[in-house]
Amino acid sequence: MLWGGRFKEELNSRALKFSSSLKYDINLLQEDIEGSIAHAEMLSSINILSNDECKKIVSGLKQISEEWQNNSWKPDAGKFEDVHSAVESRLFELIGDTAGKLHTGRSRNDQIALDIILWINKRCSLINSLIIEFQKTLLEISSAHVETLIPGYTHLQRAQPISLAFHLLAYVEMLERDKSRFYFIKNNLNQSPLGSGALAGSTLPLDRNYSADKLGFESPTGNALDSVSNRDFILDYLHACSVGMMHLSRFSEEIIIWSSSEWNFIKLSDSFTTGSSLMPQKKNPDMAELIRGKTGRVYGNYIGFASTMKSLPLSYNRDLQEDKEPLFDSSFTYEDSLEIINGMISTAAFNVKRFAEELQGDFSLATDIADWLVLKGMPFRDAHRIVGLVVQKCEKDGKKFSSMSLDELKSISQVFDESVMEYLDMNSELKKKKTIGSTNPQLVKERIDFWKKKLV
Ligand code: ARG
Repeated sequence: MLWGGRFKEELNSRALKFSSSLKYDINLLQEDIEGSIAHAEMLSSINILSNDECKKIVSGLKQISEEWQNNSWKPDAGKFEDVHSAVESRLFELIGDTAGKLHTGRSRNDQIALDIILWINKRCSLINSLIIEFQKTLLEISSAHVETLIPGYTHLQRAQPISLAFHLLAYVEMLERDKSRFYFIKNNLNQSPLGSGALAGSTLPLDRNYSADKLGFESPTGNALDSVSNRDFILDYLHACSVGMMHLSRFSEEIIIWSSSEWNFIKLSDSFTTGSSLMPQKKNPDMAELIRGKTGRVYGNYIGFASTMKSLPLSYNRDLQEDKEPLFDSSFTYEDSLEIINGMISTAAFNVKRFAEELQGDFSLATDIADWLVLKGMPFRDAHRIVGLVVQKCEKDGKKFSSMSLDELKSISQVFDESVMEYLDMNSELKKKKTIGSTNPQLVKERIDFWKKKLV
């Protein structure tokens, strides 16, 4: 037990089980050891530990790290309150009483804050590399589909034709913003809470600059009280995971729609779909559905932990231990989802011809025809009304734009002439878009090149 002196009785075993976080914070074992090594070296630099004691402690800690990695030691979940006490107890077993000097000037309150900061820091890098992999997959597919026509939607109603590449590049942009959130979090984790003690600092001459420097921080934190109660970085991280999942979920939703028989636009590979136990013909997009479903849980993690935080008085309160489950759950879920969606998309086949004919001369060209009238000098509102009348006539006669004759168009407005007929041709449609950021194939190609250079 870590607080032996004052207590006559052991903690009730049910109370220990209820309060132990070891099941979750075991994920922090490596970071806990890194922090302890830096702390021991700092204690040695101010002569609280002798060189020998420091060496003994550091080599004991390294051994624990190895034992954990090669599965030769596993703390008993029913015996310890958290990863810190489990490591300390193992250190006693390995090096004897010298282990009792490691916790000098330290509280588990500054220790846990440090462990989580170190963990999130590494995880931000991992997540960013997973996002980059997915972006690269999307760019590969995009390169092959700069001219593959699909309907673009607003309100899930056909709006204007776009290319598949243009659609996928929208996700590349979103993923870039997702990455920037993790960079932001990482860049802000630049101060070490170690040496804050329980809440008020220490009477010992701890060299906080020394340990901060050893652990790669720019400086120690500026207020011990804040340092042990700050979990803003966890909320930032949970938020970044939520927005990242939201993007994956929106894409999943599209994949689910596209893979229906009605859309018939994407065929997912067998390796990322499941069958039905009852209906032999079924091939279900379960991975996409699960990403969509898990997004709800990841949102819940944010709101759950934000609620835990909202009434806590300064400084450390045991409620803070409730940060572990949401943190690990959101992180692992998001990491897995990135890998799964990447695998699912990179092995999918697109039905390239699906929309080529169907879109030919349909109403999704209406805006372009209104633009054509504008270039003839007509005010846009009039052009909008005229094209609306053309649509009305087509619908009445059961026709598409492209099957209207010039005479029929002229009967609606005399401004129409021969050159409008070219505007009814879907094959040259994308090329007519001119603006930066549009679906124009040339501009889309340039954007693909831009990303390919940026993401090397
Ligand atoms: N395991 C705790 C947590 O995760 C840290 C220990 C601090 N506990 C305490 N009773 N002061 O927040």
